[in-house]
Amino acid sequence: MTDKLKRALIFGISGQDGSNLADYLLSLDYEVHGVVRRSSYPNTYRIEHLMSLEEQEGSNFNISYGDVLDFSSMNKVIQKVMPEEIYYLTAQSHVGISFDNPISTLQYNTLGYLNLLEIVRDLKNKEKYSPKIYFAASSEMFGTSPPPQNEDTPMLPVSPYGVSKLASFNLSRVYRRSYDMFICNGILFNHSGPRRGLNFVTKKITRCLAEIVSGKRDKIVLGNLGSKRDEGDSADYVKVMHKMLQQDNPDDFVISTGETHAIEEFVAEAFNLLGLNWKDYVEISERYKRPFELPALQGDSSKARRILGFKPEKTFKDVIKEMLSTDLEEVADMTIEQAKEKMKNE
Ligand code: GDD
Repeated sequence: MTDKLKRALIFGISGQDGSNLADYLLSLDYEVHGVVRRSSYPNTYRIEHLMSLEEQEGSNFNISYGDVLDFSSMNKVIQKVMPEEIYYLTAQSHVGISFDNPISTLQYNTLGYLNLLEIVRDLKNKEKYSPKIYFAASSEMFGTSPPPQNEDTPMLPVSPYGVSKLASFNLSRVYRRSYDMFICNGILFNHSGPRRGLNFVTKKITRCLAEIVSGKRDKIVLGNLGSKRDEGDSADYVKVMHKMLQQDNPDDFVISTGETHAIEEFVAEAFNLLGLNWKDYVEISERYKRPFELPALQGDSSKARRILGFKPEKTFKDVIKEMLSTDLEEVADMTIEQAKEKMKNE
């Protein structure tokens, strides 16, 4: 390990975005440190390929165990690594679950983040240490504000999750102004990819569809298909998180494709790739509906396009195709073409 490499610390490295960001920063020759919460059931499958690297001599990848709610473990890891860049991606990231678990949602999404801000504020005073900080804000903060949404759109969250992200978003701004800290809020709209968690609608659809092909199930049970989302690609969006921290001044940016599609369109397109009619396989249940739903998201990312040179690399259809082909390969060991042929003959 050499001291010349730029060091980044990622809270939430085992998630979809954390693992994609780690891959990206390693490709840029960073020394990457990640914080993982120790638990009896490890949830590190997305960084398995990196964990085996860690054991090799001279590896630029390191894992520390810690918990963002445990101030002392967080303090220790920051003081040990003293990174130039810190990414706070830790979250209870499921909007639906936030209605059932509002307290832990605010703990992980807001209080954990405040722990980080307080540790860095203190180190800045005592040690003149000023890392750049990225906070994963969310388009869920816009709530009922009609689309298109940009950095100036009023934020009217409709879920405990949205409230938790908005509180942290505002904490970023308060610490930035009051203590001259370099903090960027990335207001990312929905983004998926092969590493998306199974509880989110996009992955649930492509995974369950692959299971239908393999004969493991015969239907998919979903909730509200009428809500509209602006869906991009996680591996693409993590690059712009890094880009934000390379600017001379900290700022907040909306990151989105600018396209919006009802969830029903996602389902229809996935089934259509296999020549199937989704209506033959999808059942609707109240169980997956939320007490209040954010109706429509469509991001206006012109500020990021202008200042950061951001341009989404994948379309809505590209994201669906990539996710379905990964799931088909993992679940049924088939390509999209083979699965289409199989379903035609059934
Ligand atoms: N999860 C889920 N499961 N959602 C369903 C289902 C289902 O079975 N059926 C329909 N939906 C609908 C939800 O009600 C919602 O309108 C939409 O599908 C998308 O749900 P999610 O995939 O859970 O994502 P989200 O939009 O609520 O939140 C995601 O995007 C935010 C950015 O706006 C998450 O990634 C958040 O962490 C992120 O901040």
